Amino acid sequence: MNYDMELLSALVQADAVPEWLESRVKQQVSQIDREVEKNTERFLTINGEREPGANDIADRPLGDDALEWARDCICSDIYEVRLHSTIPGRNHFGAHTDCTRDFSIIYLLEDGGPEQETVFYREHGKSVLRTEKRIWADNYDILTPIASVKIDVKNYTLLNGMIIHGVNNVPEGRNQIQFSISDISKLKLSHRVYLAK
Ligand SMILES: [Fe+2]
Repeated sequence: MNYDMELLSALVQADAVPEWLESRVKQQVSQIDREVEKNTERFLTINGEREPGANDIADRPLGDDALEWARDCICSDIYEVRLHSTIPGRNHFGAHTDCTRDFSIIYLLEDGGPEQETVFYREHGKSVLRTEKRIWADNYDILTPIASVKIDVKNYTLLNGMIIHGVNNVPEGRNQIQFSISDISKLKLSHRVYLAK
């Protein structure tokens, strides 16, 4: 592995998302069928109480031209560019490891609310760094927070998708462009946040 597995987050230096791509995202967000959420229900247990999580109501590729732009302008090792939108009216986007990537780069268009934060967790009895993709850690009562970061809108934030993470306080719904990458060695990074020993 030629990257640092214990890097939690960092800022990626790159030009802003171009207008045509931002417009495409806004158009797609406006077309989301809110009924879909009924098919994607996920319940979380927090302090012994069950609550519906703020799952993705949209998770879709943004097109070959978006991928081409990202590979030219952010990093040639990016292999997927997707729109993610969460269900408004829910507080927690459930804790998980990422499905298809080791790291993701998040570009937020709407952050979901002023108190939003991304929290990394260790699951009781497990290592911090997880090799399994797509863990859904629905029971917060067996998770210990280990770090939290606030992602600002319209910057590129690298997140370690191999450590369980979730987003809290997103009642307004969150819309973001998500770039998948596994080899981060070519990224121009600043503001690195590491796992505390
Ligand atoms: Fe994630």
